[in-house]
Amino acid sequence: SQVPYAVNEPVRSYEPGSPEVKSLIATYKQMWKEKVEIPMYIGNKEVKTDKKVRIESPQDHQHDLGFFYEGDMSHVDMAIEAALAAKKDWNALGWEQRASIFLKAAELVAGPYRDRLNAATMIGQGKNVMQAEIDSACEFIDFLRFNVEFMTEMYAEQPVSSEGIWNRSEYRPLEGFCFAVTPFNFTAIAGNLPSCMAMMGNVVVWKPSMSQVYSAQVIMEIFKEAGLPDGVINLIYTDGAQTAEKVLSHPDFAGLHFTGSTSVFQGMWKMIGDNIHKYKTYPRIVGETGGKDFVMVHPSADAAAVATALVRGAFEYQGQKCSAASRAYMPKSLWEEVKTIMGKQLETVKMGSPEDPSNFVNAVIHRGSFEKCKKYIDAAREASDSKIIFGGNYDDKTGYFVEPTVIEVENPNYVSMCEEIFGPILSVYVYEDQNWKETLKLVDETSIYSLTGSIFAKDRYAIDEAYHALENAAGNFYINDKPTGAVVGQQPFGGARASGTNDKAGSKMNLMRWVSVRSVKETF
Ligand code: ALA
Repeated sequence: SQVPYAVNEPVRSYEPGSPEVKSLIATYKQMWKEKVEIPMYIGNKEVKTDKKVRIESPQDHQHDLGFFYEGDMSHVDMAIEAALAAKKDWNALGWEQRASIFLKAAELVAGPYRDRLNAATMIGQGKNVMQAEIDSACEFIDFLRFNVEFMTEMYAEQPVSSEGIWNRSEYRPLEGFCFAVTPFNFTAIAGNLPSCMAMMGNVVVWKPSMSQVYSAQVIMEIFKEAGLPDGVINLIYTDGAQTAEKVLSHPDFAGLHFTGSTSVFQGMWKMIGDNIHKYKTYPRIVGETGGKDFVMVHPSADAAAVATALVRGAFEYQGQKCSAASRAYMPKSLWEEVKTIMGKQLETVKMGSPEDPSNFVNAVIHRGSFEKCKKYIDAAREASDSKIIFGGNYDDKTGYFVEPTVIEVENPNYVSMCEEIFGPILSVYVYEDQNWKETLKLVDETSIYSLTGSIFAKDRYAIDEAYHALENAAGNFYINDKPTGAVVGQQPFGGARASGTNDKAGSKMNLMRWVSVRSVKETF
């Protein structure tokens, strides 16, 4: 059968004074006043424990939003058991039934839940209106719709048969249960990782970041309302390290879908290796991890385009996208002009709570992140071979606010050029124009990560040189555009090296990892 054709959800513009923006801000204000009590969802139970954890909003750490119930290792056991108990019925369900649940979820996000999920993302994760809209509305909807489309395309792929012989590929779910570990920075990723595994017929234990619980609750409400049967996705709030140990040593563990830090992913990979003899089957391991994303500028580039890409690429969502521009390589001849335009743009950038839609920059996610940003800014201020040319202020009186900061460095290996900061801090290395080729080489050699990167040039030979020299330095490579904002179905997203397994999110390549194909040959 045919499924509805997947098209990207149009992004609402939220013009000042429009009914859309009024409705969203009214929802935000209403939710801001409510005190929530967020349970875990295990099997058919909403689980409450005696450990209540306060939910904090990045923009106002004193504000009381309520709490979530944290579980212990007995809840991890319960979640695994609930998943395994749901497996038989879930696997017996036809794919059309599974597809319908997630298409229904997409419609719920697009319509009745749009404001609520966007507002939850604004409150809990500190996104502004537009950043919430492109994430928790559009990208999440796109993941759900496109994955259904990809699933059906995949199922339709069948081997050749011949006279008297019928060959078939049977796309079966993995034998066991899957584990989704999701980050705070994209509600869409948090929703996609467990749901795309479930869509392919798997049962899932889902452990989100403790900084994304507020919108995880709304995602779960949506899945439930869309008709997701109990036990297919089990949502737990438990200690990360202990949970990983427990889940990854279980004999029925069959797949890990992870987005988060490189070190945590590597630790989990090692644990899987240590437990390999225990499993029934080799587990699938898919991870999207860190990034130190570059913007490489050629002397022929358009200065205004570069400046805009840097301001947007580095500072939208406070630089907390794994794709954020965090290091730039600038030809000396262009730098003054780029700097002037950036300066003018940054003067207009407002910082503050997302309750005011004109605020472009909001707070960073939590105290740990604030302290980390502060450390890099203070070090840059003190070092003799770096200087802060924009921003550099921070203030945590109400929320965790860090001003968009640009550091100009003399040493291309300066610490802020190499380490992932995950905050609104951009480092710029200025090179002599004639050193373009050496600088390309330098960018590749210093790309320990390989997630996103941009080349800005008008000269087509320069673009071609960068295209080849940086072929392994970015899984998502942008020519004359900022390195953020990949769209599902248009730029499949993911990187290699220390950035992950490059099983592009929201693509058939990713969904293939969540099936175990049985080849069937029948002879007549
Ligand atoms: N998919 C997100 C982006 O491209 C991370 O910005």
